[in-house]
Amino acid sequence: MGRAASSAVLVTGASSGIGLHIARALARRGAKVAFAARRRETLEREVAAVVADGGQAVAVPLDVTDAASAQRAVQQVMERFGRVDVLVNNAGNGGELGWWADARPEVAREQFAVHVLGAEHMARAVLPVMRAQRGGVIVNFASTVGYVPMPGAAIYSAAKAAVNAWSIALRTELAPENIDVRVFSPPHTSTEAGERWPLALPKIFEPAWVAEAFVSFLDSNAARALPGGNGGLLLLQRVWPSLAARIMNGLGRDAVTRRLEHGTPKRLGNSQSKSA
Ligand SMILES: NC(=O)c1ccc[n+]([C@@H]2O[C@H](COP(=O)([O-])OP(=O)(O)OC[C@H]3O[C@@H](n4cnc5c(N)ncnc54)[C@H](OP(=O)(O)O)[C@@H]3O)[C@@H](O)[C@H]2O)c1
Repeated sequence: MGRAASSAVLVTGASSGIGLHIARALARRGAKVAFAARRRETLEREVAAVVADGGQAVAVPLDVTDAASAQRAVQQVMERFGRVDVLVNNAGNGGELGWWADARPEVAREQFAVHVLGAEHMARAVLPVMRAQRGGVIVNFASTVGYVPMPGAAIYSAAKAAVNAWSIALRTELAPENIDVRVFSPPHTSTEAGERWPLALPKIFEPAWVAEAFVSFLDSNAARALPGGNGGLLLLQRVWPSLAARIMNGLGRDAVTRRLEHGTPKRLGNSQSKSA
């Protein structure tokens, strides 16, 4: 089996959605997994289930927006597993869909605090550990809209573009120290965050599927992944940028209109019941 199986892995945002399914999938493969997020009871329940199945896991309370909390979380993982081979920087929330001009002024600070600074706090906290180990993997979570921005999600798109740019630069800076920085961009997924975005897409993915795609990515040597076919949009952006923008504009406009008309977003596409 690949790199995932023998590793000590810290997964942020492991109390729901994609992070929870990644943590479960890694634990099933024999990794030592730290489930980290703010909802302590959920983490403890998940860890108990892993341990009951003969796996190794620890629940780590964490607020990524707080640098001291990030440091404490890494310390707790070190006390339990003695190393951190992989940081899965997944914690986040999709924010609210809507026009930037109508958003609360705090939204930008909140979005950047979780997605950008949160990921940065975690990377900073694991860096001394990975340096001492002479290696490690940091996977930061971006989004397709970080590459092709979507109107209706202007701040979220900007935050994920920032994660992407930071990760590319960091990858080069840390490569000589055998610290591999990568970017994973999930497709539209039926999670707590994903369900707030009523996107008219032909397919909405289940978090368990996305978790398996993540594990394959971790076992590969790729610098980035956009599973679920979204790599095609990046290719289109390169060869026909105005068409790629038109597709995103249509998607964003339609979703915002639907949200404004109905208040609560309706799920579209082929989504099935949420499994987290
Ligand atoms: N779902 C999609 O369609 C989609 C598409 C592209 C990218 N993504 C990205 O994929 C990642 C996971 O999204 P998801 O859809 O699985 O979201 P989700 O179901 O809403 O789960 C988000 C997780 O992040 C945690 N979290 C939020 N704020 C936190 C904080 N301040 N400190 C620590 N943990 C925090 C939450 O746990 P607590 O509330 O317990 O803290 C939860 O476990 C995010 O980075 C998201 O932007 C998602």
